[in-house]
Amino acid sequence: MTIKVCVFDAYGTLFDVSSAARTLAFEPGSEKLKESWVQLAADWREKQLQYSWLRAIMDRHVDFWAVTKDSLDWALEANQLDGDSNLRKKLLDLYFRLAAYPEVSKMLADLKSKSFSTAILSNGSPDMLEGAVESAKITNLFDRVISVEEVGIFKPDLRVYKLIEEKFFCKRQEVLFVSSNCWDAIAASDFGFKTVWVNRSKQPIDRLLLVKLLEVSDLSEILDHIS
Ligand code: LAC
Repeated sequence: MTIKVCVFDAYGTLFDVSSAARTLAFEPGSEKLKESWVQLAADWREKQLQYSWLRAIMDRHVDFWAVTKDSLDWALEANQLDGDSNLRKKLLDLYFRLAAYPEVSKMLADLKSKSFSTAILSNGSPDMLEGAVESAKITNLFDRVISVEEVGIFKPDLRVYKLIEEKFFCKRQEVLFVSSNCWDAIAASDFGFKTVWVNRSKQPIDRLLLVKLLEVSDLSEILDHIS
């Protein structure tokens, strides 16, 4: 079936989740952070995802901004960087306007020039997504920016993927879903989307479900996979 709608995960896929800690680590006066920003960023992301899944299982939803703050607090303590409220504030401010990967805006403009509908489907809260999309100057390259807050549960709950069919009045086979999170790509493929896994750091595939995933190393290859 012909692809009509291209849907992107946000964090890790369009926006570089390490960029907040990296940017701050290289500012003057950040000697301590410079030593541990790689581990801090990894811990922050890992706990952020764990808390989203755990809250979904426990039926204890809070929005992704709350999860992002909680996971940062864990990561700061684990890396002996807690106690500096200014550091916490600066990291959160940077997370709110994360850098987009360099190929993002051209790739989106190419999709729009070929008349594909485009969307974000993300765990992010609506204000976080608006902040990131605006600071990357890609707002008008999306038809819709959809937050899981519309259903009040995080991915990979199937109600989230279903939002695309409802918003675009399309069949799931007409959707190309793109994510750098392998578990998200697997769930979306199992749901029925044609799915591309953006494997920037050459990770092994998650052993979850046997589904068909296309694999690319960055977003510049997306157009090659739309038939
Ligand atoms: C998102 C998370 C999974 O943007 O990165 O939905």
